[in-house]
Amino acid sequence: LPNKIKNICCIGAGYVGGPTMAVIAQKCPEIKVTVVDINVQRIADWNDESLDNLPIYEPGLKEVVLEARGRNLFFSTNVDNAINEAEMVFISVNTPTKKYGVGKGMAADLKYVELCARNIAKVSTSDKIVVEKSTLPVRTAESIKTILDAEGKDIQFKVLSNPEFLAEGTAIDDLHNGDRVLIGGDQDEDGLNAIQCLIDIYSHWLPRERIITTNVWSSELSKLTANAFLAQRVSSINAISALCEQTGANVDEIANAIGADSRIGSKFLKASVGFGGSCFQKDILNLVYIARSYGLEEVADYWEQVIKLNDYQKRRFAEKIVQNLFNTVNGKKIAILGWAFKKDTNDTRESAAIYVADYLLNEQAELVVYDPKVKAEQIYADLDYLNTRSEEQNKHLVTVVRDAYEAMGDTHAVAILTEWDEFKSYDWEKVYNGMKKPAFVFDGRNIIDKQQIEDIGFKSYNLGRE
Ligand code: NAD
Ligand code: UGA
Repeated sequence: LPNKIKNICCIGAGYVGGPTMAVIAQKCPEIKVTVVDINVQRIADWNDESLDNLPIYEPGLKEVVLEARGRNLFFSTNVDNAINEAEMVFISVNTPTKKYGVGKGMAADLKYVELCARNIAKVSTSDKIVVEKSTLPVRTAESIKTILDAEGKDIQFKVLSNPEFLAEGTAIDDLHNGDRVLIGGDQDEDGLNAIQCLIDIYSHWLPRERIITTNVWSSELSKLTANAFLAQRVSSINAISALCEQTGANVDEIANAIGADSRIGSKFLKASVGFGGSCFQKDILNLVYIARSYGLEEVADYWEQVIKLNDYQKRRFAEKIVQNLFNTVNGKKIAILGWAFKKDTNDTRESAAIYVADYLLNEQAELVVYDPKVKAEQIYADLDYLNTRSEEQNKHLVTVVRDAYEAMGDTHAVAILTEWDEFKSYDWEKVYNGMKKPAFVFDGRNIIDKQQIEDIGFKSYNLGRE
């Protein structure tokens, strides 16, 4: 097995593969890093002269790509070549929820990961360390190893688990200053050597004590567990927000008060219209599926409740809009501020905005959407994907604009669904003057000062406030 890494290949140039490999290349200039993908357009975008056309938006990403691209960071569609050249191959492809067959709607679909493993087995002519970067069910490494070895070639493969903990919108900072990196591997001599190769890479910029090593299964399961715990905090505070609205307690004051207890901690306690993103829901569903498959019903039910509460919160917010607008939004114009699942990203996967918008469209509202980073095609694609109504109807009922004031002009209500910073600094007096009266603000992120907005004349609904 290799003990010095000179060439890395990463399969999958998405939200994880792209930024992660860009940072490895930036910090390890002596290693050639090639990121490959079957999506030709995506690779072309990563190679685009103008760094403003990179396929994903992340603060700080442009600068890292500028520093490393063409020096030791390459993006390519020549998958086989890059695999063959590398001593270490990362698998960073998507692992979405299965949409068919056994485990439909719950289990992770591992077909892309399996295709990668088969391809590595087929084209490799030298020993390789294969690293699971994608989020995978516990014990996937076993299947990968079986597939890798099945070609019966006279070469060795070692599988490591190295889950990624970056969050979108802060990916570069998380990669540069992560709380920890986790590496799982076999605890025999070859396994420990492979682990050391990966430690050597991260040690280029992270202190050794932040690199945690475990066995493979702990590492795989830690990733699902970390996301489940994070999502559970959001569902917990969102559950309390509903209770606050009935009792006169204020959810932000509660978050502050409980967060001061160092055992609880203050982060990740922001009440919201519901968590979104490509991973929380998918990973918890996967965890629930795994628990059920081992007959652990109570464990499965426990974690499933995190998802149910999140669905409830999205629905509850949409219902509040309709109730406050005198129980009908038919023909009313509502501005949607924010479509991304959180600020500072153009990613809309599982965004709460999609579900709130769909609910309002079912009530025959007209929507005008503004998001600083999400393109109109994406917004229509997200709605069309739900299949609730025809593409023509979505086009007819939803307008997407590039200017926030234009979005809010002449509307009955504004719904804030993403916590973009720019929303806080709008001239709300000007917005109020341009709206139909009574003018409503529904703040799904609690980012606007309620008092200030009510002083202007708005009627406002805030999560977790009476
Ligand atoms: P993504 O959809 O953005 O990117 C995956 C890429 O893999 C796509 O560009 C796709 O074309 C490519 N691909 C699929 N099959 C391929 C194949 N056989 N050969 C070459 N390329 C192939 O996904 P992502 O958000 O980067 O997530 C990847 C994995 O990382 C998932 O398992 C996810 O759970 C995990 N993860 C994601 C995040 C996040 O913030 N998005 C964070 C941590 C972990
Ligand atoms: C999350 C985890 O934070 C990462 O550690 C993990 O690597 C990643 O999932 C993954 O596996 O994909 P991400 O989904 O990018 O990262 O973003 P988060 O910051 O975790 O936010 C997720 C959702 O929860 C967003 O919709 C956000 O608005 C919401 N949220 C978050 C709240 O509603 N309240 C909070 O206090 C925090």
